[in-house]
Amino acid sequence: MTAYDVILKKRNGGTLTDDEIKFIVNGFVKGEITDYQMAAFLMATWFRKMDPRERAVLTVCMLESGKKIELSEIKKIKVDKHSTGGVGDGVSLSLAPIVAACGIPVPMMSGRGLGHTGGTLDKLESIPGFSVELTKERIIEILKTVGVLIMGQTDDIVPADKKMYALRDVTATVDSLDLISASIMSKKLAEGMDALLLDVKTGKGAFMQKYEDSVALAKSMIEIGENLGKKMLALITDMNQPLGEAVGNALEIIQSIEILKGRGPADIVKLVKIESAYMVMLGGQAKDFDEAQKKVEKVIADGSALEIYRKMIEAQNGDGRVIDDYSIFPQAREIIAVESQEEGYIADIDAMGVGISTLMLGAGRETKESKIDYAVGAMLKKKVGDYVKKGEKLADFYVNDKRRWADARAKFLNSYTFSKEKPQVPPLVYSLVDINKVEKLNIAR
Ligand code: URA
Repeated sequence: MTAYDVILKKRNGGTLTDDEIKFIVNGFVKGEITDYQMAAFLMATWFRKMDPRERAVLTVCMLESGKKIELSEIKKIKVDKHSTGGVGDGVSLSLAPIVAACGIPVPMMSGRGLGHTGGTLDKLESIPGFSVELTKERIIEILKTVGVLIMGQTDDIVPADKKMYALRDVTATVDSLDLISASIMSKKLAEGMDALLLDVKTGKGAFMQKYEDSVALAKSMIEIGENLGKKMLALITDMNQPLGEAVGNALEIIQSIEILKGRGPADIVKLVKIESAYMVMLGGQAKDFDEAQKKVEKVIADGSALEIYRKMIEAQNGDGRVIDDYSIFPQAREIIAVESQEEGYIADIDAMGVGISTLMLGAGRETKESKIDYAVGAMLKKKVGDYVKKGEKLADFYVNDKRRWADARAKFLNSYTFSKEKPQVPPLVYSLVDINKVEKLNIAR
């Protein structure tokens, strides 16, 4: 077998055997298959797609390319959540301590920012001292004592994904259902979870912009997980506008603390509670959604979720005082208001544009080497459907380096579309997907 033969077969629309997929993945990880051959294979896969068996084999080959975290010592059902990524999507930060406070171990392995989307790890690193690198012993210890941790992917976990993702990022092959499914699921399967809630974003700020494609992605990942013995659920949620008010690293952490103090913007609070409740069900701690929601409300109201957040931060070497004192976070030199240049209803907020405007000021990475300015970001004051007058504030920007301020401000303002008529506001949650069905929920913001 040669890489050429396998690429040719996929390019011509063929279905690959298990051995052919193994040959490509293993050969690439070992350095026997070159970057340009893998890039061609990825592009052939992008165009010709895979069937469910090929996708499952690709996932397992990627999983087997590295080490797995062994968590069988923790006897309870371990539940994690994965979001396909969005702007202002800091849901995991509040949700993980809530679910742990409901008695469910949460071994969460997260990523860094990709393109215009923020990454949970980058956000957590805005807490002075916080470490996302944990040894296996420390992972077990924290899960036993605190019940939750949020860590990064180490080099020895799914090395195939690291190498393949780096190529996909520069060869326009990220938005492939097959490749996204295998990438996400191989990493989630490596971390030792028993059940997984997927938050698959849909809309203009998401990798999958069309609802049908997001459902197909959810189904594909659910099928892979269930076939390997994991309990899987997915919510299809909206990314036609940023979630919450905060966009930026320290700002999103502060917002996540506020949520656990019973405050926070209505849309993200609602989504945190809904997703937490489904995780409580996946963890076997509630027989139905109502019971799960009551548990979630209780651990927020009695402060136990906030206490677990503090303990998690401290267990990962972070300064737990940030919970009570936000001045400990890196601070921006200036807060600059951005006012609307138009009057009317906000018809649309391009989440990607908003993400990029904060990225231009240092809140994200433009190249792999960029250093993030944790203090930088925006607090959004208006949502789709709000009526604004000319000169009314759309956002406060937290700025340190003003060299690109004019461009960032223009990018931000161009992300807003106005209309004379009140627009229809897209729902917050479209549907719930499990192995058997897609259930329309249409939960409003
Ligand atoms: N997130 C991942 O981890 N992988 C993808 O392919 C896309 C989003």
